[in-house]
Amino acid sequence: MTALPRPVLDPKGLRPETRLVHGGILRSQFGENAETLYLTQSYVYESAEQCEARFKGEEDGFIYSRYSNPTVAMFEGRMCALEGAEAARATATGMAAVTASLFSQLKAGDHVIAAKALFGSIRYVIEELLPRFGVQSTLVEGTDLNAWKNAVRKETKVFLLESPTNPTLGILDIAAIAKIAKSAGACLIVDNVFATPVLQSPFELGADIVVYSATKHIDGQGRCLGGVILSSQQFVADHLQTFLRQTGPSISPFNAWVLLKGIETLPLRVEKMQSNAAKLADFLAGKKAVKKALYPFRKDHPQYELARKQMKGGGTMLSFELDGGKAAAFRFSNALRLIRISNNLGDAKSLITHPATTTHQRFTPEARAEMGIGDGLLRISVGLEHTDDLAEDLERGLKAV
Ligand SMILES: Cc1ncc(COP(=O)(O)O)c(C=O)c1O
Repeated sequence: MTALPRPVLDPKGLRPETRLVHGGILRSQFGENAETLYLTQSYVYESAEQCEARFKGEEDGFIYSRYSNPTVAMFEGRMCALEGAEAARATATGMAAVTASLFSQLKAGDHVIAAKALFGSIRYVIEELLPRFGVQSTLVEGTDLNAWKNAVRKETKVFLLESPTNPTLGILDIAAIAKIAKSAGACLIVDNVFATPVLQSPFELGADIVVYSATKHIDGQGRCLGGVILSSQQFVADHLQTFLRQTGPSISPFNAWVLLKGIETLPLRVEKMQSNAAKLADFLAGKKAVKKALYPFRKDHPQYELARKQMKGGGTMLSFELDGGKAAAFRFSNALRLIRISNNLGDAKSLITHPATTTHQRFTPEARAEMGIGDGLLRISVGLEHTDDLAEDLERGLKAV
């Protein structure tokens, strides 16, 4: 007898919106309709023999919630159904997902190539943490394909990138970089947070592993931290399973349940947020105080053609540079009433961030300049509010500048 209920539905052939509502459900003997929150640390066994069989891996079933949990398994199953991935493992945060995807497969002597334009904490892991354990890393200008090729060494095991990048919304050619990684025998990890699973499918472009901070659009309402790693079954079996089990960056079942339910409305939210973002980018681009507005689906974006080819929409994030540096950026932010100052993103509520003094403050001004992060740059995670209310709020900011 297997202790695991079978998933209710085979997602194959179903469209994404349907998979997000039905994918991954493990229904108990009570026939509940809504997914159940299994708040339990451990599981009990019918007999000592059954317990032994579970530990030996001869019988499917739950052992301990650091290893797996039915609610967490539902969240993982739903993410697999959405991405078309063979396997998913959820983690406590997006950073735990990124760190596990690297540390589970790397050893001293290996080499990693990553794009320079990365979320600050990921840059810390690549630049400072991995070298402490004998893993060398090279940071490249991600839009320059020759830079990826030239950085390859025989020890290169992993390529890592995010696209669109944070906070300048640069677009990296995932399919072309995947080819370079494949010919180098390396694994390509894509952090797909800014694009969201709705607007970009890195596996279809050749990625081997996709990671998310589920904290962002997957929750979408600013409540729970979470992360997820999507990969082949083989990667889980060879690397991830044991690493996660023994090191314990497990997600709480409660958080997994919130995310599982949040994900049902993901396409609706992302669609509305991105239509707001596109309108606001156009609104800002026409203003005198704005040096430039950055949005992947605007024709003046440096990688506009690539964005159109690789993404199904321009995304929910926009950035813009004000004349007048930090003082102007602060005056703008302080004048807003609706769009709140916060470093988070992907929330139903619109949020504004000044990258130079928050997410990227640990870099020198020179390093920030190299990444295109000037003191006048602001990033907005556009929410679900009415576009006109948001535009009126931005007008308040512009007046203060
Ligand atoms: C692109 C990107 N990746 C990863 C993370 C880390 O996610 P978490 O905060 O859930 O650890 C973030 C957080 O802002 C992010 O923006």
